Amino acid sequence: MKLIIINGPNLNLLGRREPQIYGSASFDEYLKTLQNNFPEITLEYFQSNIEGEIITKIQEVGFNYDGIILNAAAYTHTSVGIGDAVKAITTPVVEVHISNTFSREDFRHVSYISPNAKGIILGFGLESYKLAVQSFL
Ligand code: DQA
Repeated sequence: MKLIIINGPNLNLLGRREPQIYGSASFDEYLKTLQNNFPEITLEYFQSNIEGEIITKIQEVGFNYDGIILNAAAYTHTSVGIGDAVKAITTPVVEVHISNTFSREDFRHVSYISPNAKGIILGFGLESYKLAVQSFL
């Protein structure tokens, strides 16, 4: 099984960015643990701060991978383009958020990804990604 985690803007700062919300572990550290936990899965990783690069990656993997785990971060709440990309592809997308976006500001309650996601996992810290991987098994 081939899965990819796609992380959006500012998630490259995990571990340093608002640790009270996002935790103190870097994503690179967490990814290694995740890959070790699921040796039977090919688990790739892509992060970009640039909306168009995220769209290009979704298009690239979206017809041949078994699943996409997408945390579009702030673009979740603004990007019609990423929403359209998720709608255009055949690979199922699980939307993930580290924080519970519904317990935060109103603008975080809107998602352009959710209408076309297979499912949504949010609020479990970095473990949201692990739950997303398990959802594909
Ligand atoms: C986030 C929630 C978003 O609202 C925020 O812009 C992020 C991270 C999360 O994982 O909790 O950057 O997607």
